[in-house]
Parts: sequence; structure tokens; C-alpha cells
Amino acid sequence: MLAGRRIILGVTGGIAAYKAVLLCRMLVDAGAHVIPVMTESAQKFVGRATFDALASEPVRTSIFDDPDPIPHTTLGQTADLIVVAPATARSIGSYATGISNDLLTAILVATRAPVVVCPAMHTEMWEHAAVQNNLETLKSRGVTVVAPEEGRLAGGDSGSGRLAAPEKVFEVIKEILTTGDLNGRKVVVTAGGTREAIDPVRYVGNRSTGKQGYALAAAAVARGAEVTLISTVAIDAPPGVDLISVESAAQMHEAVLERADADVIVMAAAVADFRPVETSDSKIKKDGGPPDLHLEATADILSDLGASKLPGQVIVGFAAETDELILHAQNKLERKNVDVIVANDVSAPEVGFAHETNEVTILEANGCQRHVSLRSKRQIADEVLDTVAEILAR
Ligand code: CTP
Repeated sequence: MLAGRRIILGVTGGIAAYKAVLLCRMLVDAGAHVIPVMTESAQKFVGRATFDALASEPVRTSIFDDPDPIPHTTLGQTADLIVVAPATARSIGSYATGISNDLLTAILVATRAPVVVCPAMHTEMWEHAAVQNNLETLKSRGVTVVAPEEGRLAGGDSGSGRLAAPEKVFEVIKEILTTGDLNGRKVVVTAGGTREAIDPVRYVGNRSTGKQGYALAAAAVARGAEVTLISTVAIDAPPGVDLISVESAAQMHEAVLERADADVIVMAAAVADFRPVETSDSKIKKDGGPPDLHLEATADILSDLGASKLPGQVIVGFAAETDELILHAQNKLERKNVDVIVANDVSAPEVGFAHETNEVTILEANGCQRHVSLRSKRQIADEVLDTVAEILAR
């Protein structure tokens, strides 16, 4: 249900911190990848070993004692959702005023992911104008606040301010994460370069590493899609993604066409245009001199998809070019009858094959063109999927 969704569970220092343990367990059981972040005072209520044992990653507590030099931005950028449970008056105040004085508030300020805040405190504090004003500020910025309940509080007191039940918080998270703009859509993504065998040890191939395709698969699953990744690279699929491993253009062709009824097909793979006419069953020995390699064209998967496009289906191709980027991309868009071409100039620094980053122009069949400057492949993936979701909604 929440398979593969990256959730940061922020725990701040209140007696209700023990309930965050139950929430952690529910999220992990639902398939989420839970990363706990505890403030210093939270650790006075619950030991970090509890979360270390139950969550998907060890507890994070500090910006400075972390192997990642910028854990707050990395965690903030890669989260699908952040939940703070319990949220103390102090943490709510810091977040509302943008004071990033610990790892958790730094992540909250750095993220663009949806945030759920679950306040828990004594009734007097809960009712204080400062707390209520801060919560109104957060709500006006799109933060979801799960109001506390009435009931027993610390020290034998009773009143409103008790942390909402973990089941309730879980339902709110589920609701937010399953209403993505690709919710329930079947999405097929291809990734990597195909290998066309010359003999059992040699092949004709290309420099693609599959990074952009994997980023697209992860981004699509985070937006609620059912994702199948057809890949030539030996890397595990992102959580929640079905992986089909192929090697050659012919195998990829077959695997894609078997799933040609998907709502969205993104051909991010670098499919070989040519393959050896003959493949030797045994290794070609060099004493026979260099073999004459005769090549023949492979089937163009994207063109086949474009030729049999279903109503409402969105087909996306890539155009890796070294010159005349827009001209060639526009030509591919029309020739292959697709909805979107993502064009990248692979001769530019840090762009395309094997890099962590990419810079693209997204061309649509309706004439719209959008340049997306250099950024991570995951961010590029989301830009591409923004366009896909817009087309699906038209
Ligand atoms: N593609 C495909 N099947 C092929 C070759 C390419 O589906 N046999 C897809 C790629 O996955 C990509 C798009 O077509 O999405 C563009 O590929 P590219 O090789 O750049 O385009 P070509 O039509 O082969 O044009 P050219 O090589 O002349 O640039």
C-alpha cells in the first residue's frame, strides 16, 4: 500500500514519543521506507535503539554527526512525506518561524514534500495563542495538522492535547500518499543500454547506465503509479517497482509490447539501433583475424508504440543528441508519433549518460517546449512526470 514510499518520522521530546514507535511499525508494515529523526529531547523519552530496530534505517539525530555532509537537504529532497509525531510547542514554533536549530527542523525547512504535524502537549500550552498562531501559519503553507485528542496527559492531568492515535495519523498519511497525480496509473519505464551479442562474450552496446530510467521509476511510484521497470542493468529496482530484466533490443521490444496497454510508457532506455546479423554460438578466436561485422537495424520500439497508440495513453521518448538538439528532437516527436520527447545534449558537461545530473528540454506534441536546467536525475524525472500528469489530466 505504501510500498517504497520514503517517510521521515520526526520524533520530538514529549511523553507521547512512545506512540511514534507504534506509528513507525505501522508504516514499515505497510511497506514504507521509514527514516526516523529524533531531537535531543525525544531521546530522553524513547531510546534510539527502539527506532533503530523497527525503522528501515538507523535513527538520525544531528546535522553534524552524519556521514552525509548535508543530511538535511538530502533527506528533505528525497522524502515523499515527513510526519512529526509528537510535535512539541517548541518544534512547531521553530518550524513556523523557519528556525532550523536541529536536524529535524532543518529538514522541514529544506523539504518540498508534504508535511504532517501531530501536536501533543499540555492543554494550557495547546490553547496558547502562540502555539495556535504557529499552527495557523503552518496550515496556510499547506502543512497538514492532525489535531490532538482529549484524554489523559502526563502527570495525571487530563484535557485536550493528547497525541492523536497512531491509527489516525497512519490514515492521514495513507490518504496523502495515495492521492498522487499518477495514482493507480500503469506506468512502464525502460532503462539502460541494450547489448547486442556478437558472440557469448562480446557485444555491441552503448554508454547508458540506466540512472535516468531508475529515477523515473522511483518518481512514478512516489506519485502513486503501478510501475514496471524494464531494464538492462543489474541494479535492484527501487522499492515498490516491478523489475523485468532484459539484455537485447529484441527482448526489450517483446517485454514492452506485452505491456503496451499501460497508461504511460517512458522509453528512457538507449536501445541499440543496429545489431550483428549473426551471433556466433562460440567465442570468435582472434587467430582467424578480425571478423567482418554485418549489422542490421533493430525494431524501433518507440515507433511501434507510437503507431499503435491507445486513446488517452501517453508515450514518452528520449532524444540523446550531440548537435541540433531541438531540431532532431522535434523530428523524432513527429516521426515516432509520441506525446513527449525529452531531449538532452549528451555532449554538454554533467549531462546524460552515466552522470548523476541531467539538463533537458521537454517537447510536447502540442508544440509546448520547456527547458529544465541542470539538476539531479530524480528532479528531472519529476519534471517529466509533471508534464505526463498534465497531459493525462487534459
Ligand atoms: N528507441 C526505441 N527503439 C530503438 C531505438 C530507439 O524505442 N530501436 C527509442 C529510445 O528509447 C528513445 C528514442 O527512441 O526513447 C530515441 O532514440 P534515438 O536512438 O535517439 O532515435 P533514432 O530514431 O534512432 O534516431 P537517430 O539514431 O537517427 O538519432
